[in-house]
Amino acid sequence: QPAEAYSTFRLKNTLSEVIVIDELSDLAVVNAENPPVIIGEGSNTVFLASQDRPLLRFLAQSKTVTAETLQHIELHVEAGHNWHELVTWAVTQQLWGIENQALIPGSVGAAPVQNIGAYGVEFSDVCSYVDFYDWTERNVRRLNNNDCQFAYRDSIFKHQLQGKGIIVAVGLKLYKVPKPVLTYPGLDTLPTSVSLQQIYQQIIAIRQAKLPDYNVIANCGSFFKNPVISQSHYQKLQSSFAKIPGFSVENGIKVPAAWLIDQAGFKGYKLNNVGCYEHQPLVLVNYGGADGAALLDLVCLIQQKIQAQFQIMLEPEVRLLDSNGHHYVES
Ligand code: EPU
Repeated sequence: QPAEAYSTFRLKNTLSEVIVIDELSDLAVVNAENPPVIIGEGSNTVFLASQDRPLLRFLAQSKTVTAETLQHIELHVEAGHNWHELVTWAVTQQLWGIENQALIPGSVGAAPVQNIGAYGVEFSDVCSYVDFYDWTERNVRRLNNNDCQFAYRDSIFKHQLQGKGIIVAVGLKLYKVPKPVLTYPGLDTLPTSVSLQQIYQQIIAIRQAKLPDYNVIANCGSFFKNPVISQSHYQKLQSSFAKIPGFSVENGIKVPAAWLIDQAGFKGYKLNNVGCYEHQPLVLVNYGGADGAALLDLVCLIQQKIQAQFQIMLEPEVRLLDSNGHHYVES
């Protein structure tokens, strides 16, 4: 069947098989010898080629309050729930913690994998635990926040546990008392007395102004991670590029990939039906009919130019899959 419905980047490819599972107990049918490739809503996955391995979608989406105090609630949410619908529900219930992550596309089960983050809040900030069904053990293991090894766009689910099973549910801690996070540009002008609804609306407005709607122009959001470079590398770049933005992080200076791509002249650039979005060049877009080769040509061109100009190698943030469902590695 056509792959376009399973990836919001919509490259022209086919899928050999899609297994759809509605309940936890049905996961027992999965063959541990030849495990499927897990797919959520396809908003961070690009099929570079037609897929030979089966894909699996887990659709269970219940949501249960498991504990409650005067200050907070604990929520258990199954992986098939849509993320933005969960955020919207939390806002209507007057629960704080995930409002800055409004309009992030995709499912709840995908959120821990790359530790989704936006506007100063990461999934790891609200996560109590992640329930993981292991193909070989055939049972659900609970990983607490520390076990998940969360980092910037990273977790254990991209490393040791990659391909070993499936995230079936998450536990979240949300607050009944105000917890506004207004540090990110665009939010820093809001008063600290701002309402939950106002923050939610503001995030939606910022995202809609900058990011293309994948229903209109195919894309998977930010295509590359923001690179972290050493202090000395950053200082050297500052002598040639006085305005280069940078944010101190634990292991160096994080530089916005969007700025590098913009400086390199790619904003609005188009090559064989793929290109860099005009309002946020970190978002690569498919104008229609593109294939994996066209996308890789653009990716290589951007990487080479940034490497030559800034001595920085950009790494993809989206999951790029080859025909066997393996993560694409540059040769
Ligand atoms: N910039 C430019 N030119 C542009 C756009 C941006 O130079 O055309 C520079 C500016 O210096 C700007 C900076 O890039 O201050 C950062 O831009 P932005 O605030 O849009 O954020 P980002 O770092 O590009 C990250 C996430 C987004 C997330 C936003 C907001 C990554 C890879 N991306 O983008 O996540 O929504 O911050 O928190 O970390 C996604 O993962 O799909 C995604 C959209």
